[in-house]
Amino acid sequence: MARILTGIQCTGRPHLGNVLGAMLPAIGLAQDPTNEALLFLADLHTLTTIKDPHERREYVYATAAAWLALGLDTDRVVFYRQSQVPAVCELTWYLSCFTPYPMLANAHAFKEKSKQLSAVSAGLFTYPVLMAADILLYQAAIVPVGKDQLQHLEMARDIANSFNHYYGNTFVLPQARIDQALQTIPGTDGQKMSKSYRNTIDIFLPEKQLRKAIMAIQTDSTSIAAPKNPDQCTVFSLYSTLASEEQVATMRTKYLAGGYGYGEAKQALFALILEKFAPARAQFDAYMHDLSAIEQKLATGEAKANALATQTLAQVRNKLGY
Ligand code: TRP
Repeated sequence: MARILTGIQCTGRPHLGNVLGAMLPAIGLAQDPTNEALLFLADLHTLTTIKDPHERREYVYATAAAWLALGLDTDRVVFYRQSQVPAVCELTWYLSCFTPYPMLANAHAFKEKSKQLSAVSAGLFTYPVLMAADILLYQAAIVPVGKDQLQHLEMARDIANSFNHYYGNTFVLPQARIDQALQTIPGTDGQKMSKSYRNTIDIFLPEKQLRKAIMAIQTDSTSIAAPKNPDQCTVFSLYSTLASEEQVATMRTKYLAGGYGYGEAKQALFALILEKFAPARAQFDAYMHDLSAIEQKLATGEAKANALATQTLAQVRNKLGY
């Protein structure tokens, strides 16, 4: 059994890009009975950017609610908040003493911000060490991540290697798993859907707001009567990620024939999202109106995670002479 672990950013409410590009595939992976899976909300990492406690709580709950609503089975998967396993902070300190300064100074995320060093906190600088602790604490073998996280994974391996070198085999060396097949979902402006581009579609919004977000998808100014190129249209592209082959073919024909406006296509997309995500949307609302249900689910995972963490930490402390 391979132990798989991944951390989920919770710096916003999950959007369609997260749902299709990351969450649904991860739920599939986690539910594979040949794996032992841990999935956690990286709510300590959010402190590098989010300072407002209310905002943090809202995003953590919304992210948890979305995972649960989309069908994450918490009997199968250890689902927890990073902050509820304090051992990770202690391990971060130990690991930081095995992390060379130049390694952190070379991190892409740090370099991007280093033009304005006064805005860089020590927390942002040591972000990769906390991430290494997230992984090594649970002796995870496989870490599914996006390409942008590859460097962080290499650092986790280097740090583990360095510790193992001093104290003998202690940590499993984690391996990144990049799923090439994962699709990039376009946002309302046609670029990759991302919170930082402000082009997201939040599928858990109330109907009216969801409709508004979909109607705001940018299209060109081709008249209703004129034939349209489906392959250059964001509405069509989003529709294709959700629709059946038949539905896609039908919409393609309508585009090519002309007399079919973007407004109609958007309406079709809206209806399809409502249909596909009806149960998930209802569950999401139920969870957000009953936070204690979320707490309960997380508490089970947090107990398991703490038990695993305690084992690793005991070994580490022993080796270090504490
Ligand atoms: N840094 C990751 C991201 O931005 C989230 C994360 C934190 C993570 N700790 C992790 C991912 C440990 C994998 C393993 O997406």
